[in-house]
Amino acid sequence: MPEGQIVGLAGESGCGKTTLGNALALIANPPLYVIGGTMEIDGEVIDMTTLAKDSNHVHRPYRGATVSLLPQGAMNAISPTLKIKDLVHDVMAAHDKSVTKAEAMDRATDRLKMLSMPVRVLDSYAHQLSGGMKQRMVTVISTLLDPKLLIADEPTSALDVSSQKQLIEMLLAMVDMKIMRGVIFITHDLPVLSMVTDRLAIMYAGKIVENGRTEDLVHNARHPYTSALLSAVLDPTLETRTKHVLGIPGSPPNLGNPPTGCRFHPRCAFAMAECGTKEPPVLLEGNHEVACWWAEKNPDTTVPMEVTLA
Ligand SMILES: Nc1ncnc2c1ncn2[C@@H]1O[C@H](COP(=O)(O)OP(=O)(O)O)[C@@H](O)[C@H]1O
Ligand code: SF4
Ligand SMILES: [Mg+2]
Repeated sequence: MPEGQIVGLAGESGCGKTTLGNALALIANPPLYVIGGTMEIDGEVIDMTTLAKDSNHVHRPYRGATVSLLPQGAMNAISPTLKIKDLVHDVMAAHDKSVTKAEAMDRATDRLKMLSMPVRVLDSYAHQLSGGMKQRMVTVISTLLDPKLLIADEPTSALDVSSQKQLIEMLLAMVDMKIMRGVIFITHDLPVLSMVTDRLAIMYAGKIVENGRTEDLVHNARHPYTSALLSAVLDPTLETRTKHVLGIPGSPPNLGNPPTGCRFHPRCAFAMAECGTKEPPVLLEGNHEVACWWAEKNPDTTVPMEVTLA
């Protein structure tokens, strides 16, 4: 992904977003194993495989510094017995044992001032903070080492609308200040993604089925699953108040035993004979990728949104 961009990763619950995020953040723990693959960040190629006994040791220096994860539900996992400043020290010392409490405090103080956030928060326990403030603090802590890539897993999902806005504004400011050089923003919330991301990747049953510029995906979806996700979103504008919001029938498959061919075929209104047996081709259309038989047979065509799904 190009420097300074926010890339969204979207798909229904259970399609593997968190699993992919954990693999990219180099924190895959058994029973999750990464059996192969590399990741290139800023010219450095990192082997993501976790099968070797020493992979944990090999990956540790990259965590937090090269690639950092803001885990799903992180704000609810802050220890109730630690002040935020102690948590800051714990995180920094995990990367470099020689960091003192005073140094960690200085770093966090500078960062909070940069982001126009109240420094007194460092002296609080988690229960003394609002949900929105807790989430902004875990975001600040997960980026204290200036990671090149931040993977934010559902960072706004448990927040009220105004706290969501504050968190998004903070993330955008952090990218502007080059605190991190890129963000992968994971959520099932397409309206949020369409506001903040440059590019979008749509995931279904463990595979990326479409990816491209956010504007192109939102206005010219080429994959029936992308189109179905967009049809399921309520658009509260005046012109669309009477629009019928369509859900996607059924649910994502068990990834231990996914459907043959295109994994979406049992739920797809556009499925054709080959969809059930043959994996769809990945089509490269400019800098847009889509994996679908329908898209192959209908070049330059947007998937019609107002259809009754299978
Ligand atoms: N590639 C995969 N192969 C097998 N199981 C997977 C794979 N990716 C995810 N899973 C399993 O699918 C379930 C949902 O995955 P998860 O990453 O939590 O989805 P999401 O974050 O999109 O809700 C989990 O039980 C996970 O272990
Ligand atoms: S490959 Fe077939 S089943 Fe899969 S999304 Fe495309 S049309 Fe639907
Ligand atoms: Mg998840």
